[in-house]
Amino acid sequence: MANIKFFSGEQIPLEMHKVRIVQKLSLPPVEKRLEAITEAGNNTFLLKNRDVFMDMLTDSGVNAMSDRQQSAMLVADDSYAGSETFTRLESKLHEIFGMDFFLPAHQGRACENIISQALVKPGTIVPMNYHFTTTKSHIVLNGGTVEELIADTGLEVTSSNPFKGNIDIEKLNELIEKNGADKIAFVRMEAGTNLIGGQPFSLQNLSEVRSLCDKYGLMLILDASLLSDNLYFLKEREEKCRSMSIREITKELARLCDIVYFSARKLGSARGGGICIRSKAVYEKMRELVTLYEGFLTYGGMSVREMEALTVGLEETMDEEMINQGPQFISYMVDELAKKGIPVVTPAGGLGCHINAMEFVSHIPQSQYPAGALAAALYIAGGIRGMERGTMSEQRNPDGSEVLSNMELLRLAMPRRVFTLSQVKYAIDRIAWLYENRMLIEGLAFVDEPKLLRFFFGRLKPISDWQQKLASKFRQDFGESL
Ligand SMILES: Cc1ncc(COP(=O)(O)O)c(C=O)c1O
Repeated sequence: MANIKFFSGEQIPLEMHKVRIVQKLSLPPVEKRLEAITEAGNNTFLLKNRDVFMDMLTDSGVNAMSDRQQSAMLVADDSYAGSETFTRLESKLHEIFGMDFFLPAHQGRACENIISQALVKPGTIVPMNYHFTTTKSHIVLNGGTVEELIADTGLEVTSSNPFKGNIDIEKLNELIEKNGADKIAFVRMEAGTNLIGGQPFSLQNLSEVRSLCDKYGLMLILDASLLSDNLYFLKEREEKCRSMSIREITKELARLCDIVYFSARKLGSARGGGICIRSKAVYEKMRELVTLYEGFLTYGGMSVREMEALTVGLEETMDEEMINQGPQFISYMVDELAKKGIPVVTPAGGLGCHINAMEFVSHIPQSQYPAGALAAALYIAGGIRGMERGTMSEQRNPDGSEVLSNMELLRLAMPRRVFTLSQVKYAIDRIAWLYENRMLIEGLAFVDEPKLLRFFFGRLKPISDWQQKLASKFRQDFGESL
């Protein structure tokens, strides 16, 4: 997306790609949408894709691939062991991150399983800027605990802080001093911090974390799943990075870390994952786990076609014009919503547009899942599927009490290069209508609640007939329109 001025003065992102393969969409009428969300137990994960007009659930594995990625898939070298495809991927990762060892895995959480099994011992602590759902579950499963040390400003919903993903260095130092370095399994930094609105950390912050890790002899692990957005923001927002190329920034980030792992469903717009490791001893510790859980060391659960697409996708991540499409579309959506007074997370981050449900539906208590209720309401209003990122995404305490989330967000992911600007405008329109009618939205209650990762497949019901009222109001206001 180039920096192109419009004669009209309008400021809109202009795509530096053209669309050559399309998928037909349909938008079911509001009555059908009401039926569909009821059948899905008010959980947007359980909706059928055929009932969804704009799938903004996630950017995971659904980013548009480039023509070069597609064509690379045709030349894949299919063999169980030692394929050329793997060698190409391994050398691309070596070139980009400069680490000597690479272990493939079928997706990001598989990397987390391997890292946690290898490095988390019962009673140990993993400090991090912020947790991700699957990361925390794997650490806890191995007897560890997660300490989130995000700087206080990171949790301010509206802010002008360019690096809300920064860890609080003082708190990190205190935690290590208080517990002793031998109690710390490793320090984890997450690029483009997912659960707080796709917010980046600064290179300066990562360097300071490195210094502390050096002081106490700790390992620093980077979750690079959302690295491409973080790279874009570093280049845009951090003085030191302005004169550096994306490739140089990437190298510098990796130089500060001992391990870089990623979900290739996000990084590289493909499907798969992997762990880049600096130390041979750590590599050897993890290697057996890959063969046990993922597959042989030269595919790790990935198809060769996906590995070829990933190799090209990683190279394309080094191209600023490729990685700026998502953040620029998101920024457009966030700014337009903010202009209408709709509460959104600012500054615009990566991954998607995040609506602040705590404020949007401030009349719904956290125990009734405001962000989950808003997700169901937006599906009814527009056939748009978002994802709850709030209390529903937390796990109950061992005594059964709720963990009330710091933030109640409805995440509307922006899969890269997938939606057109008119579709984004449609989403803005339906959100604006919903905001006008927000008092019609009420809460949800679980009817079927899994113990682990309940947001994936738990089922809920509305606490009243509010959804029927919302659908009738839609009909009244929009007439025959879908
Ligand atoms: C920051 C982060 N880490 C890890 C994961 C897990 O990756 P996967 O979905 O490929 O298992 C994700 C997925 O969304 C993520 O955003």
